[in-house]
Parts: sequence; C-alpha cells; structure tokens
Amino acid sequence: MKIAIDGPAGSGKSTIARKLSVRLGIPYLETGLAYRAAGFLVLKHLGAVSELSWKEIEPLLHRLEIEPRVGKTVVRVDGEELGEELKGEDVGRVASLVGTVGRFREFINEYFRSLLKGRQAVVEGRDAGTNIIPDAELKLFITASPEERAERRFRQLKRAGVEVSYEEILRGIVERDERDSQRKDYPFKPAPDAVIVDTTGKSVDEVIREIISMVERVRE
Ligand code: DC
Repeated sequence: MKIAIDGPAGSGKSTIARKLSVRLGIPYLETGLAYRAAGFLVLKHLGAVSELSWKEIEPLLHRLEIEPRVGKTVVRVDGEELGEELKGEDVGRVASLVGTVGRFREFINEYFRSLLKGRQAVVEGRDAGTNIIPDAELKLFITASPEERAERRFRQLKRAGVEVSYEEILRGIVERDERDSQRKDYPFKPAPDAVIVDTTGKSVDEVIREIISMVERVRE
C-alpha cells in the first residue's frame, strides 16, 4: 500500500502521517525533513541567505542521507542523526527557499523514488501525490484554516519554550503558503485525484479514524 499525504504547513499532516505509518506498520517518509536538512546545511555553510541557486546547494548534498522507518524518518548529515535542529522557524524559512529551486526538487524527488522502489510507504510532503508516488492507491490532502494552523503551531512552539507571537506565525504561514503555491517549478497544489481532508475543529484521533476507514475501503 502506498499512501501520499500533502497539505499546507501546520495542517497536522506530519502527525497524521506518522500515526498512520504506525497503525499500518509501513515506513514513513517525511519529505519536508530533506528540505529542512538542506536548509540546515545552507544556514551552516552559506548563512541566512534570501536567494539560493542549485549551484550553491549541490555541493552540500552528498552529506545528506534519508531513511524511512515505521513511525519515523531518519535524517543524517555527515552520518549524524538530526532531530530538534531541524524544527526551528529559521530552518523552516530556508527550507521553503530550498523548495523554490527546481533542480533541487528534481534531485530530491529522484532520491525519494529510489528509496521507495517496490516498498509500501506513507509519503508526506508537498508533491508526494503529484511527483513522488503518483501511483499511490490513496492520496490525501490534509488542510485546516490558516488561523487554526497558526494556533496549532503557536501552541507547539510555546510547549517547546520558543518565544513567538501568534500574529507573527499567522503572517509566516500566509507568506509561506503564497510562496509555495506561486513558485514557477512544481507549484504546490493537491493532486487531481486527492481526497481533501479538512481537519479544522477535529481531533487527530477523529481524523485517523476517518482515514483508516478510507484505507479499508481501498484495500477491499
Ligand atoms: O513540511 P515542512 O514545514 O517541514 O516543510 C518545510 C518547507 O520545505 C516548506 O515550507 C516547503 C518545503 N518543502 C517543499 O517544498 N516540498 C516538500 N515536499 C516538502 C517541503
């Protein structure tokens, strides 16, 4: 079974994809982590840039390794596993910039396809259903209102002890949505055959139940 999960930042898609991977016992590929790891490398080697080219990113990529496992996507840079380092807003901003580089998307999608060849997987990310596993049996587009997404991110960051304002996060989400949807290469949009799952006002468990029953229908 191959399941593709897309959706905007803060829609809860990572939580849902991870839980689904565990419930179904199949590996989880969180593609955003590759963009975040590339963003992390860019920040480390080039600084907080506001523009980025393939020529600048390419030499950094041999350091990067991704391993999809049940319930977890392992990311290594120079053989060391990264975790919390990838979660910050600054890394997220550069990751979004990395996503505007078409050659990077081609490179990383090819790498993802090679990792997934002949395997079952839950693949989560901006173009999972359109470019990475277009043959997925189930394609889901998880969404929620910008305000609810900002609220969730706000609570998440607050729990992690990060000082940010709700307005700042909401602005960041609207900006990122706009950049992701308007880029020239691979603009972010749901696959035409994706099922839209609106999670506004729903608990994670409710959403998981909804999706598991879709999986059962597809498997019948
Ligand atoms: O899903 P996330 O917030 O971890 O992703 C961070 C950024 O990476 C996001 O703003 C856009 C980019 N990204 C992308 O362009 N394509 C993907 N498949 C995943 C992430």
